[in-house]
Amino acid sequence: MIIETTAAFIEEKFRAEGSGHDWPHIRRVWQVARALAAQTPGTDPEVTELAALLHDIADWKFHGGDYEAGPRAARAWLLSQQVPEATIARVEQVIREVSFKGLGVETPVSSPEAAVVQDADRLDAIGAIGVGRAFAYGGHKGRPLHDPAVPPVAHADFEQYKQSTTPTLNHFYEKLLHLKDRLHTPAARQLAAVRHHFMEQFVAQFLAEWEGTDLPPQL
Ligand code: ADP
Ligand code: NI
Repeated sequence: MIIETTAAFIEEKFRAEGSGHDWPHIRRVWQVARALAAQTPGTDPEVTELAALLHDIADWKFHGGDYEAGPRAARAWLLSQQVPEATIARVEQVIREVSFKGLGVETPVSSPEAAVVQDADRLDAIGAIGVGRAFAYGGHKGRPLHDPAVPPVAHADFEQYKQSTTPTLNHFYEKLLHLKDRLHTPAARQLAAVRHHFMEQFVAQFLAEWEGTDLPPQL
């Protein structure tokens, strides 16, 4: 029951979101996390599903960089639904561990639930939908598609990553093309291979069009 109530609450809250954290993103993460959990021994289905549904409830990127905003908002919701403290604490910890924090920053997980939710969120950042979401996010932030004069940066800490105002194509080098190597579960790695390949082709084609190297010689 708490899963359905939470899904309805989040669907309503994220119905028309334009930054890549829309309800369809959350629904995909929820469904993929559930599927990965079914193949990952020791995962608690309820903690997995609640954390997947609530993982973007108050993203630090839109809350002044406050990294506890998400866990705090999830706790407030779960408390209002009389969810036991032990479950709330586990969900909060998964949410804390989900987010990418920069290429040079490790994001270890302390539970199998965090492993599958982190994998599911990252799978939704790669492939065709990942490409769409990256440019939607860049548009939301008013960023250029690409600027060859701005080299990609391997952010060494979370503060640096948070302050980045990178052109969107750089985000592929700063995050998206590395995600396949940072997954925890074998099932997620398998899915990622196809999506990664698509993204590599996308970037190659983008650059060919940008530089005009795809044009026939007579043009
Ligand atoms: P994470 O949870 O891994 O920190 P999110 O899932 O919150 O990241 O990011 C939401 C979407 O916005 C993702 O598809 C992500 O790749 C994209 N995104 C985040 N930062 C940028 C950026 N600087 N440029 C382009 N896309 C971005
Ligand atoms: Ni997400």
